[in-house]
Amino acid sequence: MLDVDHKSYWGDYFSYFPALARYIPLGEYARRVRPRACVLGISDGKFALPLLRAGWEVVGVETDDLFLNGGELDLVDGHHDIMGLRERLATEGLEDRCTVVEQDYMTLPADGDFQLVVGSGLWSMPPNRAHSLEALVHHAMDMVAPGGIFFGEYLIGLNDDERRCGYYPDTAGMEQIVKRPGWELFENADLGIRGESHLGYEQWHYHRYAAAIVHRMPPPREPAREN
Ligand SMILES: C[S@@+](CC[C@H](N)C(=O)[O-])C[C@H]1O[C@@H](n2cnc3c(N)ncnc32)[C@H](O)[C@@H]1O
Repeated sequence: MLDVDHKSYWGDYFSYFPALARYIPLGEYARRVRPRACVLGISDGKFALPLLRAGWEVVGVETDDLFLNGGELDLVDGHHDIMGLRERLATEGLEDRCTVVEQDYMTLPADGDFQLVVGSGLWSMPPNRAHSLEALVHHAMDMVAPGGIFFGEYLIGLNDDERRCGYYPDTAGMEQIVKRPGWELFENADLGIRGESHLGYEQWHYHRYAAAIVHRMPPPREPAREN
């Protein structure tokens, strides 16, 4: 069983993250092997805390100081006290297994170091418009080690503006991006429409969620040499 951390500010917004339990090591095996995940846009730990509790090591990349160090938010739906990621890690004694990198992930090397790379709800955010969606997703995928998994949760356009801008692809558009040589597409699911209001988009609105789960195939084995 894998779930998001519901105490995160983002905790009650929809995510397909629990479906990852079908594809990644968990339980005693993960606690022994300590696989490494990179969470892009780690925020206050909605995905990182459950992975750490399950035995993973996590590198979290984030540019927003508020969700790393805590603070307060006054939004149309009321006042929010945000406990930052660092305090949440310390409360559970998990800080030694989580490295926080305060940078745009597009400035980091993509050397295939991680058994899992997670990105959710970030590619349509304005700062990422400096890159094409394909460049953003390929850079994230290139951080995955052979044998590892890429989990990319994205939004499908619901109106003409979203459809035109190129950052809200339909599942066919995302499939074109993630179907690459050496990769196997496990799932690319249209997950339906949900109404919500949140930081960055406080007016009540709808999002159509989707997620791609893609496996980076290990290189072919060298044939055994005969002496
Ligand atoms: C909308 S929040 C979602 C938080 C959580 N991951 C979730 O899905 O509920 C996306 C987070 O990604 C971060 N982010 C967006 N683009 C980023 C980038 N290029 N590098 C690092 N962090 C980024 C934002 O600062 C924000 O905290």
